[in-house]
Amino acid sequence: MNEVIQNNIKFEFFYDVYFSKDIFHPENSDLINIISKIDSKEINTVSIFIDQGVIENHLDLVDKILYYFKMHRAKLKLLGSPLSVPGGEVCKTNVSVLEGIYQKLHDDRADRHTFVLAIGGGAMLDTVGYAAATTHRGIRLLRIPTTVLAQNDAGIGVKAGVNRFGIKNFIGSFIIPCAVVNDALFLSTLSDRDKKSGMAEAVKAALIRDDVFFEWLESNVEDLVCFKEDAVRYMIKRCAELHLLQITTGGDPFETGSNRPLDFGHWAAHKLETMSEYELRHGEAVAIGMAIDTRYSLDTRRITRIDYERIISLMMKLDFKLEHQAMKQRNESGVLVLLDGIDEFREHLGGESTITVLDSIGSGVEINDISINMMEQSISSLLHEVQ
Ligand SMILES: NC(=O)c1ccc[n+]([C@@H]2O[C@H](COP(=O)([O-])OP(=O)(O)OC[C@H]3O[C@@H](n4cnc5c(N)ncnc54)[C@H](O)[C@@H]3O)[C@@H](O)[C@H]2O)c1
Ligand SMILES: [Zn+2]
Repeated sequence: MNEVIQNNIKFEFFYDVYFSKDIFHPENSDLINIISKIDSKEINTVSIFIDQGVIENHLDLVDKILYYFKMHRAKLKLLGSPLSVPGGEVCKTNVSVLEGIYQKLHDDRADRHTFVLAIGGGAMLDTVGYAAATTHRGIRLLRIPTTVLAQNDAGIGVKAGVNRFGIKNFIGSFIIPCAVVNDALFLSTLSDRDKKSGMAEAVKAALIRDDVFFEWLESNVEDLVCFKEDAVRYMIKRCAELHLLQITTGGDPFETGSNRPLDFGHWAAHKLETMSEYELRHGEAVAIGMAIDTRYSLDTRRITRIDYERIISLMMKLDFKLEHQAMKQRNESGVLVLLDGIDEFREHLGGESTITVLDSIGSGVEINDISINMMEQSISSLLHEVQ
């Protein structure tokens, strides 16, 4: 080596997660204020994408948005018409959906100063986010998550990904949104299944980071099950806070190491989602994945039987089914197919096989010495107890 040019690039990123209600109401000025705070130029251009499931349940939404932009035309310019994007996992799996998003960004002549407004569930936000990250090497993304899971987890972080080769998030990118607006109005139309599914991520955040939040979830479980607004609002906000704390202070926002500290229960969850051909919702799969890793934490004598029972009991009270037939599926050699999830989880990041287990309620730890035999036993014991 004769010469070297050393480079050291330092960045600081800022983005805020706002909580509002009915942001496209003509008298609600939150959105225009947020956009103007990010970019004070006279007129900002906006390209809008909406989850089809949201459009079907909020029949006046498109007209409301068009009226909103008409009212604020002195400061906001809407590019083209809002594009309806299929919601759910299909949009991450079907290449033509991504193509349609690129097409609109092209037709809109969106540039790096344009705000891409993505309104929808986690899957749709992932897909639009990935398109925004890769168009012109990155267009500004303003997310408006519309499910519990998207408001407390998927929509507030710095990742976007789509599925290929039967692997979740095989293609993806890190993208820092310019802002996130959690609008409580959207949650009212969620199916019971999706109201509940997102609560799994709150249980996860509590289990690995915050025992007081776990106790709060235990005490408020009845209000959460019937989706009482105050309880739901606090659950989403605290979960989002814990998630953001990890991203901003955890020291590895772009996951360059071997661990994914926020992904407790996720090695099994991702595998179960693909094995069930996405019949399982992400949150439902996370609940099962957490039950497995909680059982493993008990079987490896990290947590007490009492804590194990508290955790399983909370998830059952939240009405999560903690078993699925895919947990019993074996390959030709008689090995549980689900266990492949551990290696696939590692392949996503590289480095050592790492999963998160519990040392106590509120304290998640990453481990590398995973006993496959013990994990198989833990899955079997769990099935025995919850079936
Ligand atoms: N990027 C990340 O960091 C990250 C983190 C966690 C999860 N995820 C991803 O998020 C996805 C799951 O997201 P999800 O749980 O929000 O589900 P989802 O996006 O699959 O949406 C579920 C269903 O709800 C519909 N829907 C959305 N908003 C609605 C509303 N307000 N009213 C009625 N129906 C509505 C959708 O059309 C869809 O049919 C998974 O693909 C998961 O991998 C991403
Ligand atoms: Zn998750």
